[in-house]
Amino acid sequence: MKVVRTIAEVREALAPLREGTIGLVPTMGALHEGHVTLCYPARIDCDTVVMSIFANPAQFDEPADFASYPRDEERDLAFLTMEDPEDVDIVFIPSLEEMYPPGFQTWVDVTELGSILEGAARPGHFRGVATVCLKLFSIIRPDVAYFGRKDAQQVEVIRQMVRDLALDIEVCSVPTARDADGLALSSRNVLLSPAEREQAPSLFRALQTRDLERARAVLAEAGLEPDYIEVIESDGRHLFAGAVRVGSTRLIDNVVLKGDE
Ligand code: PAJ
Repeated sequence: MKVVRTIAEVREALAPLREGTIGLVPTMGALHEGHVTLCYPARIDCDTVVMSIFANPAQFDEPADFASYPRDEERDLAFLTMEDPEDVDIVFIPSLEEMYPPGFQTWVDVTELGSILEGAARPGHFRGVATVCLKLFSIIRPDVAYFGRKDAQQVEVIRQMVRDLALDIEVCSVPTARDADGLALSSRNVLLSPAEREQAPSLFRALQTRDLERARAVLAEAGLEPDYIEVIESDGRHLFAGAVRVGSTRLIDNVVLKGDE
């Protein structure tokens, strides 16, 4: 597993590997099993697997949220090495200046899809996501990019951008990895207090009712108020998707209503 930090370095590392297929797994670090599940199909499909680790300030609408986002590069690298050192070939960990050099002013906005649901709750969020992903695509030039279905709207935003800009990249979405009690794995879970951690699985339990009224009742019983619970379409599936704030931590999740798991 090679660790590279600059655009020049990652391009140099990939230059001799371009004959084969390249898979990209973009992450913001604070790695967990959910991130690792994205690497499995990448390992099977691609000759070279690149993971990027970059906590992207542009997709946080609240500075406090960005400040509290868990970051621990040493732990992330140890986690990757311990998990299965064969999963990832190159880890790209750019600095803030590398991704947003002084004077940076070019943004990608997926206008409609990016302004509903998560985009309505977090203005500018998907503009930050789309811009950083396009930049990563342009640096790495992957054949396939892997995204988790937990963030279903993110998958749709990326697919829309790829279509609209005719990017020569396949987008692959991967099922959600969960804890034993159903809570979707997320970097934000470490921010939950023990009491909040007990409340958190009620989001998945609520969505599993597959019924708006019953879902609201499950959340109310756990003392939680949803930001939204809606049926959305993603990847040809109908999803029951929801977002909830547990203390100061925002959690999202979805279950499949119609279509393959
Ligand atoms: P991050 O939250 O670190 O997630 C990186 C990738 O892991 C995303 O595609 C996300 O959907 C996926 N993922 C997270 N939890 C998962 C789980 N429990 N099961 C399966 N996949 C899971 O999403 C981002 O970072 C950023 O927006 C990014 C795409 C890197 C752009 O900055």
